[in-house]
Amino acid sequence: MAELLLVGVTHYPPFAWRDEDMAGILRGILKDPGIPAEAKDPAGWPERMRAEWGADEARSSAAAHRQHLVTGFDRAREAIEDFAPDFLLVWGDDQYENFKEDLIPPYALLAYDDLEAEPWAHARFPNVWGEEADAKVKVRGRPDAARWLAGQLLTDGIDVAYAYKPLHHPSLAHAFLNTVLFLDYHRVGFPWPMVCMPINCYGSKVISARGAFVPFGRQVEPDPPAPSPRRLMDVGGAVARHLADSPWRVALVASSSWSHAFLTDHLWRLRPDTPADRRLYDALATSDFATWENTSLAEVDHAGQQELLNWFTLMGAARELGRTPDWSTFVETWCFNSNKVFALWS
Ligand SMILES: [Fe+2]
Repeated sequence: MAELLLVGVTHYPPFAWRDEDMAGILRGILKDPGIPAEAKDPAGWPERMRAEWGADEARSSAAAHRQHLVTGFDRAREAIEDFAPDFLLVWGDDQYENFKEDLIPPYALLAYDDLEAEPWAHARFPNVWGEEADAKVKVRGRPDAARWLAGQLLTDGIDVAYAYKPLHHPSLAHAFLNTVLFLDYHRVGFPWPMVCMPINCYGSKVISARGAFVPFGRQVEPDPPAPSPRRLMDVGGAVARHLADSPWRVALVASSSWSHAFLTDHLWRLRPDTPADRRLYDALATSDFATWENTSLAEVDHAGQQELLNWFTLMGAARELGRTPDWSTFVETWCFNSNKVFALWS
C-alpha cells in the first residue's frame, strides 16, 4: 500500500531575488497611472503596511520575510527527506507559460521525461544565489507514473488532459521550477522526480491578462473561468485516492502563495486580501472542509486568490484521506505581494 505525504508551499518569484528587489511588484504597481495618487500615498496605508514599507520601500524588511520563507521551506524539505518519496506530484498554476491561445486545459498531467531547465535565462532581476544566466537545473520526471495516474483518473470520470512534452515553455512553468529551486534553497540537491499537474488558476485572466494583470482600468475581454473550487477538491481527492492504491510513496504538493496584491482590485492592487486568506487558513488548520467546499470561484477571484486553487486541490486530497495538518504557518505580509502558507499533513 502506498503512503502519501501532503505539503503546501509557495513559489513566490521574488524569494529568488535579492532583498533589495523583493518588493519589486509593489513598486511596479505604484507606477500604474490608473491607480489614484491618494491610494498610493503610504500616509493612508494600514499601520502594519507602513511599518513594513519603512523608510526604504521595504528593502530592509525583506530580510525578515525571507527568513520566514526559508524556515517554511526548511521544514517542508525535512518532512520530504524523512518521507523519502518515490516522486512529488505538484499542483501549480500555468501563467500563460506552457499553455496559450492554442490550448488551455482546466488541468493536466505532464508525463515528461527528465529535463534540463534554465531558471535565469529570462530573469527580470539578479537571483539571490548569484547563479549565471545560463545556469542549468536538472529535473527528473516520472512519465510512467503520470501516464498511469492519467489512466486511473480518466477511468474514474476525471477528464484530465495529459502531455508527453512541453507545448510553449522550454521546460517547466515557474510554479514548478520555483518549487524545485526553493525546496533546494541551500543548494544541496533535489533528488526526487516530479510529476507536474498544472491547473488553470487564472481562468478569466489566463489569456486576456497573460496570467497576471493589465494596467488598472483597462478593459479586456475575459476568458472562460477556471475550474470551480469544488471541482478541484474532487480532482485532488481522486488523485489521492488512486495514488493511495498505487505502488509508490508520493508527496502531494500544492505550490502557490495565497491572495496576490496585484489581483485585488478592491484594494487598488496594493496589498493582499488578508481577511479572506485568514478565513480559509483557519478552516485549513481545523480541517473545516465545508468552508473550503462552499467558497465560490467569484469569492476566490475577488480576493485575488486565483492561485489558491492549487490548494483547493490539496484540501480535496486531505479530505479524501481524512487528514488534519500536523503543522502549518501563515506568513502575513503587506508589501511583499502575497501572504504565504506552509503546511504538512503526514
Ligand atoms: Fe504563480
